Amino acid sequence: MKALIIGGTSGLGRVLAAEFIAAGWETSVTGVRDEALQYFSAAFPAARAVKLDVSAPDARAAAEALIAGLGGADAVAVCAGLYADDPDADWAAEEKVIAVNAAGCAAALNAAYSYFRKNGGGRLACVSSIGGIRGNARCPAYNASKAFLFNYLEGLRQNAALAGADISVTNIIPAYIGEGSGAGRKMFTAIMKKRRSAYIPGYWRLLAAVYRNLPDFLHEKLARWHYLLLKPFMRRAPRWKAKP
Ligand SMILES: NC(=O)c1ccc[n+]([C@@H]2O[C@H](COP(=O)([O-])OP(=O)(O)OC[C@H]3O[C@@H](n4cnc5c(N)ncnc54)[C@H](OP(=O)(O)O)[C@@H]3O)[C@@H](O)[C@H]2O)c1
Repeated sequence: MKALIIGGTSGLGRVLAAEFIAAGWETSVTGVRDEALQYFSAAFPAARAVKLDVSAPDARAAAEALIAGLGGADAVAVCAGLYADDPDADWAAEEKVIAVNAAGCAAALNAAYSYFRKNGGGRLACVSSIGGIRGNARCPAYNASKAFLFNYLEGLRQNAALAGADISVTNIIPAYIGEGSGAGRKMFTAIMKKRRSAYIPGYWRLLAAVYRNLPDFLHEKLARWHYLLLKPFMRRAPRWKAKP
């Protein structure tokens, strides 16, 4: 069985790749930084590591060619992502985030989905974020890009159902986690069990339901205390706090 992890050289993608490799899958990953690609190859010599920038204009064609070059894939997980701390809603930062997280991830997902539609099915997964549930003052474009992924994945899932295609579409929704705490195993299990969505940690499914239904005026008022209120449920500090 063959797995491809787009954005698999670092972070959550890397720990997911490690699970596929441990389970005996022929695994390939992509990354953008040369040192990340080298570091991955040194740690996992049996796996293939390839450069792919999903925000490049030819990303859709490059992803399609990559899948073909691997001789196909049975599972494709898109874990690529870019976070920009953006409290001033600076367009230069927002444009990059949208290019990678929304347009770029959609290009990779679309290439894999089309491959599965033509070749009898497969497992498609994408790492979105708890940020996709609602807008956030600290990173408006990041959360919006993740909301796009929620919707796009749902559309692909419904498209597969309508076509009678054997394609599972798993939306992996992490919330303030690091690469530890069994995240790789949880993502792998969700993909193997063909789950529609997997919140990591699981209790965020309940928190997300509450948060999604919070009245707008409360959502605006709570912006100031957002991270303070959520702190007890976080396993890792928000990225803008983790910065040196
Ligand atoms: N960790 C969390 O708590 C958390 C929470 C919510 C959502 N997420 C989401 O989970 C995903 C992984 O996050 P992470 O924390 O593991 O981040 P990470 O360590 O920064 O890893 C991001 C991955 O995406 C790749 N990448 C970055 N820009 C790219 C581009 N333009 N084209 C293709 N690949 C690109 C990186 O390649 P290099 O290795 O070459 O840098 C890396 O493999 C992201 O989508 C993130 O938004 C994470």
